[in-house]
Amino acid sequence: MSGRNGAPEELVIRHAHVLDPGNRLDGVADVRLREGRVAEVGEGLRGACELDVDGLHLFPGFVDVHAHWRTPGREDEESIESGSAAAAAGGFTGIVMMPNTEPVVDRPLIVESLVRRVEKESRVRAYVSAALHAGLKGERLTEMRLLRETGAFCVSDDGLGTASAGVLRNGMLYARSAGLPVILHCEDHALATGVVHDGAYAALAGIPGSPASAEDAATATALVLAAETGAKVHITHVSTALSAALVGFFKRRADVSADTTPHHLTLTDGLVATLDGLFRVNPPLRPEKDRDGVTDALRDGVLDFVATDHAPHAPEEKELPFEEAAPGFLGHETAFAALYTELVLRGTVSLPRLVEAMSCSPGRWVGEGGGILVGGPADLALIDLSEEWTVGRETLVSRSSNSPYLGRGLTSRVVGTIVGGELVYDRLGAKFGVRA
Ligand code: DOR
Repeated sequence: MSGRNGAPEELVIRHAHVLDPGNRLDGVADVRLREGRVAEVGEGLRGACELDVDGLHLFPGFVDVHAHWRTPGREDEESIESGSAAAAAGGFTGIVMMPNTEPVVDRPLIVESLVRRVEKESRVRAYVSAALHAGLKGERLTEMRLLRETGAFCVSDDGLGTASAGVLRNGMLYARSAGLPVILHCEDHALATGVVHDGAYAALAGIPGSPASAEDAATATALVLAAETGAKVHITHVSTALSAALVGFFKRRADVSADTTPHHLTLTDGLVATLDGLFRVNPPLRPEKDRDGVTDALRDGVLDFVATDHAPHAPEEKELPFEEAAPGFLGHETAFAALYTELVLRGTVSLPRLVEAMSCSPGRWVGEGGGILVGGPADLALIDLSEEWTVGRETLVSRSSNSPYLGRGLTSRVVGTIVGGELVYDRLGAKFGVRA
């Protein structure tokens, strides 16, 4: 990881409001970081190098299990450098890179080269997901054992559902024997024939819709197969109330976890009325009852965590009518602020639950970070909960600008991000007042 060696040997973060529900921390404290790890949490700590953050919150760094950094192949949209800079600007200290790239990450050589590039080019921890099927075609399984040996962290065909339950079942069995978790994008392509949610707004706009059943039927199939095969399965970007309920039903019957996205928690298919292709995404934005259903499921822990599905696209792929626009939104840089503004400030989800859902729970899933624990990695996010700002192209660090929140006012902002003890994002620069 670039610049890690730039971390001071020891740093004391003073007067932070430390919030880590996983380790029962919630109050003003000082945190000593030493050699990339948390060395001490307490009061009145002093050191040769200090960062006074009076008034700011300190959380375990966020972990995003779903990111498209478009590398290899579409570095014009995002690169490891720019994607990791965007992640750091959003307070993320770890992410999982999806394999729907050009070429697809479906061979050991490609995994090996990505792992090497991440080491050199990423500011944050980045785990490589290899493909479940060669070319994401849903036909021939990848060589999962070899992929794991060369550094793959999990497998996924994200971006596409798997057409045949038989093929998916074999994939789960193989993934299990190779010791790899499977991340599933649940979409039945026989039902998903449209480009937005099949509801009143689709009808009014005359845009072809895909029914919620396209997601629900695929989710049900995936869960049944997970229960039968014993594979470790993660259902990503759950967007309907019924799919969330299905996940809940299978929680005690299968090794299953699930996430939903900031956009499915905060936006609805009312945006179809804009006729703006910016708002095309897979799965599509849903009606309020689904947004509320997934929000309740996240609040209650039925959905384990938030993942952004950070999906950069070039302007010429987005500035188009819905039917022609590429699906996907930027996610890293606005995730926390959008959820804090829309869920925490409105009283729907508590701040500790949001931190649990963005840091602790996905950190447990990847097995690294997500907690402020003595001896654990010094992966941290510093946040100003009171700052108000407007999302604009000029505020975005990503190489793309397809954020669904462009022009929106949000409350709370990431001020700094620390990975392995090193400040990899520092929005206020000198204002931190590091005393060395
Ligand atoms: O909207 C989406 N965009 N959903 C996906 O699952 C894939 C992603 C992409 O790669 O652009």
